[in-house]
Amino acid sequence: MPNIVVVGTQWGDEGKGKVVDILAPHVDVVVRYQGGNNAGHTVVVGKEKYVFHSIPSAILHPGRRCVIGCGVVVDPASLIEEMEALVRRGVVLDGNLFISKNAHMIMPYHRALDLAWEAKLGKRRIGTTGRGVGPAYADKAARVGIRMADLLDEPLFKEKLQANIREKNKLLREIYDAQTLTVEEILGPYLRYAGWLAPYITDTALLLARWIEAGQSVLFEGAQGTMLDIDHGTYPFITSSNTTAGGAATGTGVPPTKINGVLGVAKAYTTRVGSGPFPTELRGELADQIRARGNEYGATTGRPRRCGWFDAVVLRYAARINGLDTVALTKLDVLDQCETVKICVGYKYRGEVLSEFPEEERIWTEAEPVYEEMSGWLASTRGLRSYVDLPTKARQYLERLAELAGVELCLVSTGAVREDTIVLDGTPLTGWFPGVRYPIA
Ligand code: GDP
Ligand code: IMO
Ligand code: MG
Repeated sequence: MPNIVVVGTQWGDEGKGKVVDILAPHVDVVVRYQGGNNAGHTVVVGKEKYVFHSIPSAILHPGRRCVIGCGVVVDPASLIEEMEALVRRGVVLDGNLFISKNAHMIMPYHRALDLAWEAKLGKRRIGTTGRGVGPAYADKAARVGIRMADLLDEPLFKEKLQANIREKNKLLREIYDAQTLTVEEILGPYLRYAGWLAPYITDTALLLARWIEAGQSVLFEGAQGTMLDIDHGTYPFITSSNTTAGGAATGTGVPPTKINGVLGVAKAYTTRVGSGPFPTELRGELADQIRARGNEYGATTGRPRRCGWFDAVVLRYAARINGLDTVALTKLDVLDQCETVKICVGYKYRGEVLSEFPEEERIWTEAEPVYEEMSGWLASTRGLRSYVDLPTKARQYLERLAELAGVELCLVSTGAVREDTIVLDGTPLTGWFPGVRYPIA
């Protein structure tokens, strides 16, 4: 049974939640491998909407085991809130949710530092989600992080917390002029969280190895997107983890030799939340129209998303960095009313046209996108479920995107609900999961 990575190819919010939900019935296990509750993955089932932050987007499918891998940073309060909300809606977690002992925790001082760092950066602030994700990963790298396993060892947890509080309070008070925290105000609640979460905390790398050995199929659910990757994204305007496919191995303990393929998710246009370079960004009326039609407001923070044209240079880069086998293209319907649609095919910088994504911040901010223009299809694609029913011009747009990026499409999404999905025949996706050809009831 194949083990496949689902990864965002742009700046996040490509529709990974919807794609994972569609693939979930065809796999045994879904695992998150990086990021934290900065993620917001939406699944729409009929009139019901679910937004997942730390729990894999497959939990709605009874019997699907959902794993929070070691590469994820976990805010226990936020996770418990998410768990309680799901239980209230009738979702069964017991026996289906597993949290890695090695996953690091987001602590209250991480949230405080996240806000303090941002305030200090002023004009160069990242526009983080304010969830403490960056500072939690910074502590992990600095070897002062606290892991889920530590939470279950009260004396060790207390010792690590005391040491951290001493240092963080100094930072908060003397460098950032911010409110300090006490050990007591953290210890009590965190020990309560420990009681809550203990039944779910386990050696997930070992479980995954056993399940794979037994022939079960694992889907790796990426959070954020390629351009937010700490190494390959638009640094420093990134998130603090490896969002790209390589992170699936380190963030779960499943070796690369057991991973069989990578599916990229791309939106039919581009969005970005927070600050940082965005070469194809639109401003004004057109951006507002796309934002309104695509309901482009952050699933985690509610912030309006910046909107722009599709960037084929970015998708080609994502194909290279992630080794994409195939791409699921979402939100085609949002462009239905555009008289013309543009695709970025290169960047013009100081008289030269660059066709590969550059590595310099100056080029990202100063380069002018070079566009190819196509006339829009001006017809509704919303809810269409068959490729041949798509207007010819919409098909031409999709085919051109795939050609420019050098990667074939396997799925086209035409609406937020599960059923508004076209699965293309004869692609790597139908090879991996033959049953996915008939996802529609
Ligand atoms: P993720 O972070 O990659 O999972 O994406 P988000 O959930 O943050 O954002 C995607 C948004 O688009 C969600 O509100 C989805 O319900 C919605 N969505 C997904 N696919 C489609 C589609 O094909 N058409 C439309 N109109 N909305 C979609
Ligand atoms: P999903 O998984 C879009 C962005 C933030 C900010 C930067 C750093 O739903 O696609 P952080 O809080 O991670 O330190 O913020 O990354 N960001 C996202 N943008 N979708 C996400 O997740 C994001 N998670 C973080 O807006 O620019
Ligand atoms: Mg999102």
